[in-house]
Amino acid sequence: MDLKIVDNYSKMSEMAANIVAGLMQSKKDAVLGLATGSTPEGMYARLVEMYRQGKIDFNSVVTFNLDEYVGLAPDHPQSYHQYMKKNLFDHVNIKPSNTSIPHCSGNDNPGEVCAEFETKIKQAGGIDLQVLGIGVNGHIGFNEPASHLRTTTHLVELAEETIKANSRFFESVDKVPRKAITMGMGSIMGAKKVLLLASGENKAEAVRDSFSGFISTETPASLLQLHRDVLVVVDQEAASLIKSSFL
Ligand code: F6R
Repeated sequence: MDLKIVDNYSKMSEMAANIVAGLMQSKKDAVLGLATGSTPEGMYARLVEMYRQGKIDFNSVVTFNLDEYVGLAPDHPQSYHQYMKKNLFDHVNIKPSNTSIPHCSGNDNPGEVCAEFETKIKQAGGIDLQVLGIGVNGHIGFNEPASHLRTTTHLVELAEETIKANSRFFESVDKVPRKAITMGMGSIMGAKKVLLLASGENKAEAVRDSFSGFISTETPASLLQLHRDVLVVVDQEAASLIKSSFL
């Protein structure tokens, strides 16, 4: 595992965008695993900028998103479908048919949705680069702290901490969906390279617990320490509880 501490959110976003762009330049049909949330917004803005400058091309790029709330229609303003359109897809030449976000309406069979999603990742040849944020409780995707974690894409009950953290995007905490579909730990660990981003003081404990040399399913991101090609890019605030002896 490689850990880079950068000055601030802007530097973190710049480094992340350069890594994604570098892959896209060396592999035109790169398969990207994408995250939503506040953390990667700056990275997406820079990727859009690079696309406008002609430095990168999304024509053959394939993407898989980590997760989506259950029961939100794809056109719901708080859905991750809309997030991806707003932050990236509407601004670049990606083919909609090359993008996959798990979607489960109230009527779909979650098991079938999850199995189809896993099959699609396999058919694409696996994920080249998985971008991740981290929850305040150490979750990645929506793999919440628990005594057992699931390997493949699955239906999950969101942790209270996650519902509270994500309520900032909704009118009120009651409007936050209670369930989501998320890639599992195996789907994430199967990526050839993982790039985890964290910014801000509220992520400091999760970063410390995840990357200090111990692993626990109660801190899902800590399992990434077992992956052979992980880069963690954090800003000074998110790194503030990491002791220098861990580095
Ligand atoms: C989002 C996702 C989540 C977020 C995490 C951090 O697709 O999978 O794990 O990365 O909750 O969210 P932010 O970046 O909003 O703090």
